[in-house]
Amino acid sequence: MSKLSSARLTSNNTTLLDEFNSSIMFDKELYTQDILGSITHAKMLQKQKILTKDEVELIVIALEKIRSEIQNDEFVFDIVDEDIHMAIEKRLTQLIGDTGKKLHTARSRNDQVALDLKLYTQTKNKEIISLLKTLIETLLMISDKHTNTILPGMTHLQHAQPVNFGFHLLTYISMFSRDIERFISSYKRNNLSPLGSAALAGTPHNIDRDFCANELGFDGPMINAMDGVSDRDFVLEILFNISVIGAHISRLSEELILWSSYEFGFVTFSDEYSTGSSIMPQKKNPDVAELLRGKTGRYYGNLMSMLTVIKGIPLAYNKDLQEDKEITFDSIKNISISLKILNESLKTLTINKENMKNATKVGHLSATDLADYLVSKGVAFRDAHQTTGRAVIRAEELGIDLSELSLEELQKIDSKIELGIEDRLNLENSMNARNSNGGTSTETTKEQIKHFQKFLKGLELERL
Ligand code: ARG
Repeated sequence: MSKLSSARLTSNNTTLLDEFNSSIMFDKELYTQDILGSITHAKMLQKQKILTKDEVELIVIALEKIRSEIQNDEFVFDIVDEDIHMAIEKRLTQLIGDTGKKLHTARSRNDQVALDLKLYTQTKNKEIISLLKTLIETLLMISDKHTNTILPGMTHLQHAQPVNFGFHLLTYISMFSRDIERFISSYKRNNLSPLGSAALAGTPHNIDRDFCANELGFDGPMINAMDGVSDRDFVLEILFNISVIGAHISRLSEELILWSSYEFGFVTFSDEYSTGSSIMPQKKNPDVAELLRGKTGRYYGNLMSMLTVIKGIPLAYNKDLQEDKEITFDSIKNISISLKILNESLKTLTINKENMKNATKVGHLSATDLADYLVSKGVAFRDAHQTTGRAVIRAEELGIDLSELSLEELQKIDSKIELGIEDRLNLENSMNARNSNGGTSTETTKEQIKHFQKFLKGLELERL
């Protein structure tokens, strides 16, 4: 039997061509969207008196039957049918005969596939936003418990200044909240329907694109039909947005991996989210965090693939665009499970406060405080910086931390240093002294927590 799409071809395709050309084994993922789009299109055709009420009733019932056949694994997927769109249409005609053949009036697979993928990515945009929201909630909960938990803040992976753990985590909370904003903005920008673009130039039939757009939850139809079938910016955007989350998850994972090493010992993964070794019985490995970090490679790869696929395609639809689906599904599936498992492993993570605190006792974390102290005594900052350097050298000679240097030793270095300096060099005080807006003091950290709690409350995701 010849294919639905091969009206002018006189010989059957080879199996090799079918294997190469067909997308059904992966685009069957879009069956729900495809059926929803078809039902909406059929209802529009009825409203516009292009099909009769009876015809559309028959079509809708049959499409619903096909949906349940696919759901119940009763549907036979065959690569000869090329893609999910042709497979569903073929089955429709098997079920209701000639009426089934009328569904494709005023429509092309080109606007159909663009619609299906857009419905899919728009839904996934929302799902990813809610996974990010849950993750931020967990991070805020941990943050809130640790606004007094001191640890070394680092630059160049060297001890820099003392910070609290809540403040450190708020950096990730900030990143993930920007991710949410990025998804919301992509969702809004792309919420226009390609349906009714037909093959590329619109259709002579009297269709109602606004009706379909509205039924499907879009803000309206896309303005230009050729753009309707050629645009895959919404795919690029979701792949990019996922890549940025990947970058953020990867940075956090890297820290969790370091922190769970013996050398740091700042955190311990729960056994539920740790793995062992097949040979070394003592091992407890952070595979989860490593995989989370590793998966970022595929997000970037998928984004690069799509950018490359799209770069040289002349208008309008070209089959190259079929390459958009597997990478999109792959990134979406992996980011979704990654966000879930990151959230769960954080909820069961043990924070080793004592080890964090002990780590602040080395590395002269309050050196900047000594320099600031000297500035308050009228010393120019550059000179204060030099003097503090000498104090650090002295502490190193004595094998102690700067915060433990006696008043007598400090006065030998600079006589302007007076009693009370020990309070300034105390590490908790040093942390709390940084109370500028956005700083690490316990008080300003709590304000940041409140800010993000408010951010989450104000999201109004149900309005998307
Ligand atoms: N499977 C195709 C795709 O993904 C559907 C559109 C095919 N259109 C066409 N004119 N061959 O992109």
